[in-house]
Amino acid sequence: MEITINKTQNPKAKPDMSNLPFGKYFSDHMFIMDYDEGKGWHDPRIVPYGPIELDPSAMVFHYAQEVFEGLKAYKSSDGHVRLFRPDKNFARLNVSNERLAIPQIDEALCLEGLKKLVELDKEWIPEQEGTSLYIRPFIIATDPFLGVKPSESYKFMIICSPSGLYYPEGLAPVKIYVEDSYVRAVRGGTGFTKTGGNYAGSIRAQVVAHEKGYSQVLWLDGVEQKYIEEVGSMNIFFKINGEVVTPALNGSILSGITRMSTIELLKSWGVPVSERKISIQEVSDAYDNGTLEECFGTGTAAIISPVGELSWDDKVMLINDNKIGEITQRIFDTITNIQTGKEEDKMGWVL
Ligand code: COI
Repeated sequence: MEITINKTQNPKAKPDMSNLPFGKYFSDHMFIMDYDEGKGWHDPRIVPYGPIELDPSAMVFHYAQEVFEGLKAYKSSDGHVRLFRPDKNFARLNVSNERLAIPQIDEALCLEGLKKLVELDKEWIPEQEGTSLYIRPFIIATDPFLGVKPSESYKFMIICSPSGLYYPEGLAPVKIYVEDSYVRAVRGGTGFTKTGGNYAGSIRAQVVAHEKGYSQVLWLDGVEQKYIEEVGSMNIFFKINGEVVTPALNGSILSGITRMSTIELLKSWGVPVSERKISIQEVSDAYDNGTLEECFGTGTAAIISPVGELSWDDKVMLINDNKIGEITQRIFDTITNIQTGKEEDKMGWVL
């Protein structure tokens, strides 16, 4: 399928690229492709960025049949576009599609569309430290119909946002509240997918945590509320007695690409790392016996977010004296250096 390009006649004024918020400004163009039953995905195209018209009865508005991805582009010092593991995002999008009963996409075609779009909007890739072009591919169900069933038409789109840090405070230890009332996901549900409903359902807990003075919540499993799953909208890692531990993917945890990259880096460094069940009690015991060494979240948007304090019931656990741990810092530095091209991409992650 050929991807057509319709360039804007009215390029937008760029925001102050030295002072960018996250996800607020959007580049000049976007990628769109339509799906219709019987026809499949068709008309892949790059067009000027702008509003789209949807029927108020479009199914996505009512039953949230949608999936999305998030990834980042950087520019090397010689002006080349650097995409961080975009193939993994499209592979994961198809995993989410399957669960949400959305038709599979052609990953190679979407990657080609993404590359063409970012090349066209290359001037929108910010270059200051801590900035990137945040890319948001997504698919929405567009049938004008109120019955609950798979839509017969969809739109796949990619939009790009020149962005600063997700957490304006940057790589700084945050306070986390162990959530013992709300849950994020259960096995058999949609926790392992990137679908809007997972995030909508998490907002209330975030609001309550903010009111109590915490940055985010630590999610426990949805059945026993005993085992650790994620932190805010990120995966979570602990360093206990020299070993790095992250919850195993169990069906309710998102398979994060930064999570995957962190595990691969640790293995390449010879640091013991395991993916297994880890309970909040185990973390609390490790704190008590002085072996809880580091804790951090991983995600595309913030990359690494160190946890400085964990509050569980009445217990406050101060981790590494509320300072950024050695492994936490090394992972952050290595991933960001590979992304920006400051360090050789030995892992072959940049496309
Ligand atoms: C991430 O990239 O860590 C996220 O999942 C947050 C995103 C939804 C903004």
